[in-house]
Amino acid sequence: MLWGKLLKNYLLYTSMKRIATGIKNLDNLLEGGFEEKGLFLVMGRTGTCKSTFGMQFLVEGAKNGERGLYVSFEENPDSVKRTALRFGWDLDRLGVVVKKIAPYDYYRAVESMIKEIMFERPERVVIDSITNLMIYRSRPEWKGRYGVIELYTPTLADIRMSLFGLLERLRALGATYLLIAEEGVEGLDVVSHVSSLIADGIIRLGVEKIAGNEIRTLQVVKMRRTKHPLERMVLLLKDNGLDVVKAEDYFQ
Ligand SMILES: Nc1ncnc2c1ncn2[C@@H]1O[C@H](COP(=O)(O)OP(=O)(O)OP(=O)(O)O)[C@@H](O)[C@H]1O
Ligand SMILES: [Mg+2]
Repeated sequence: MLWGKLLKNYLLYTSMKRIATGIKNLDNLLEGGFEEKGLFLVMGRTGTCKSTFGMQFLVEGAKNGERGLYVSFEENPDSVKRTALRFGWDLDRLGVVVKKIAPYDYYRAVESMIKEIMFERPERVVIDSITNLMIYRSRPEWKGRYGVIELYTPTLADIRMSLFGLLERLRALGATYLLIAEEGVEGLDVVSHVSSLIADGIIRLGVEKIAGNEIRTLQVVKMRRTKHPLERMVLLLKDNGLDVVKAEDYFQ
């Protein structure tokens, strides 16, 4: 009985496979990376390299033969691919699928995204961004009537209810998710707050003035079942993508 329980716990422990994020030093600090099939949030204000993080995450998977899907609610696939090429990532050649979904009707956008995930069966999915998906929404009572153009800002209750539901549906599809959330958009920080509660891990990107210089930063805010540093680290944007170094090493 006891042995059975111990064996079960051991198997559970060893079955939590980690997958690399592709940001080498970050993976070293996260016991190897994200837990497979988890749901992770990358948040930050505009221009903090959230999309680059997402692309690098998919490229890392593709290099290991994992299928990747990048769902964009704002940028066209061509623009995403051109950005990736700047870092030497040829998304088409790597087999990373980039889809643009118009967010102008929340319900329709969610269904298109779920359909896409079920069709592509990706191991890794990036959603850029969950905030954008929430911004535009026809009134709930208009569900199914796509001709209506008028939009409104969702209430806190709307966001809570739809996010919990959406993230549960995503989890059930079985991929590893990287959700991008924008901070500092008036009235919509609640999107990152609500997602934070559900996410298995949170990474916050930023730009800060340190010793008179603007420095890109990365902080692991939460990572369930993982021993990780809490301090803000320096995020480096190199020719071949992102990397992190501890601040004490950077300012030496
Ligand atoms: N090839 C490059 N070389 C140097 N810097 C770059 C390069 N590509 C992007 N950047 C820098 O990275 C910044 C943002 O990158 P990214 O698009 O990943 O950020 P983001 O957080 O997704 O921004 P947004 O809020 O617009 O979605 C750019 O504004 C630019 O400063
Ligand atoms: Mg972006």
